[in-house]
Amino acid sequence: MQEEIDISHSLLVEKAGKGNQFLGWIDLPVKTDETLIISLEADAASIRKNAEILVVVGIGGSYLGARAIIEALSSPFSSFYTDNNNPVVIYAGQNISQDYHAELLQLLDKKEYAIVVISKSGTTTEPAIAFRLLKNHIEKKYGPEEAARRIIVITDGSKGALKSLSEKHGYKTYVIPGDVGGRYSVLTPVGLLPIAIAGFDIRQLLHGANEMRKVCTETSSLIDNPAASYAAIRTLLYRLGNQIEILVNYEPAMHYVTEWWKQLFGESEGKENEGLFPAGVDFTSDLHSMGQYIQQGQRLLFETVIHISKSKKLLTVPVDESNLDGINYIARKTLQQVNDMAALATTLAHSDGEVPNLDIFLPVIDECALGELIYFFEFACGLSGYLLGINPFNQPGVEAYKNNMFALLGKPGFENETEAIRARIHEE
Ligand code: PA5
Repeated sequence: MQEEIDISHSLLVEKAGKGNQFLGWIDLPVKTDETLIISLEADAASIRKNAEILVVVGIGGSYLGARAIIEALSSPFSSFYTDNNNPVVIYAGQNISQDYHAELLQLLDKKEYAIVVISKSGTTTEPAIAFRLLKNHIEKKYGPEEAARRIIVITDGSKGALKSLSEKHGYKTYVIPGDVGGRYSVLTPVGLLPIAIAGFDIRQLLHGANEMRKVCTETSSLIDNPAASYAAIRTLLYRLGNQIEILVNYEPAMHYVTEWWKQLFGESEGKENEGLFPAGVDFTSDLHSMGQYIQQGQRLLFETVIHISKSKKLLTVPVDESNLDGINYIARKTLQQVNDMAALATTLAHSDGEVPNLDIFLPVIDECALGELIYFFEFACGLSGYLLGINPFNQPGVEAYKNNMFALLGKPGFENETEAIRARIHEE
């Protein structure tokens, strides 16, 4: 694969391939300037002082990156810790559920909160609905002036409904660079601001990403560039008939990293009837639900396993004289040791079941390692897309459902489509 990788690599770093107007993410870790970081940190500090809850409004690339990093770094029980000045981060506009948003508004009646609303286009329906609901709520609760101080907008620099709203009400606004697409935007204010408000170190995140940027951009060698070897191996497996890649974790904190990864690869590669289908599992939980299929179902799969070398806390299996539960053979072992053996046992079993396994090792879950991981996946995704011959930086297929929905809901300008779609539904 080296020759093919060399070509894809130079298309990426020389910005000469398909979709090259959206390659701004390549330089983000090194081009994010100090003034922007200081401003993000200052806004984060002021929201942390005034809010028990931060509501992040956004969908897809305008939401998953922040959630992935925040949930990876937070205690799974963080919403119960209210004494550490970290606002609890909750999300809106990533669905259109009536119950979800009604429950959210009910909760916010009783809490001090602030809103970060994110939409690059500024016109996406889901976050627009959520923001309209939340804007009404926050203005009623605090009055329009204080409400405006509690809202921060992240959107395009020159266009979109959200930009107009923000200008009218004087909201503090950050810009999503025009050359960075949604799913590649976690290292812009889209991810950095919510992550800083949640209390995490965005400088370390950028530092980790920059370390990986150096490795990824300096060489296309399959030996020295891990993103190149990952892209090459997954592409080879795809060509051999493995059409589904499952991202595996053994740490529940990594669940939303998988959700972010699914969007990154699914939206980037799935076009022109090509692309690996990205799936995800949380082990060992899902070994008790999906394990059977992976072991013995259709042989279309391979797994990419994220291992975390070191837990943050220490916990051992207690000794119990009676041993009625029969697990004294692992007494005094750390849970990490047991989890690692579960991972090794699973890799061996799945390899026996002809499911190839790739391993990614993270030293620990911290800002720096997550920054490296994000950049690694983004770069590998760009390379993989070019190996497939598609444009990994557009998403033309996302429009199809939107157009139907606009026609069904009677959006002005869609009158012809409304008639056509009603006739089609009647006929079908
Ligand atoms: O990666 C993408 O481009 C998409 O997932 C978008 O992020 C998503 O559709 C939201 O778009 P917007 O930020 O314009 O509201």
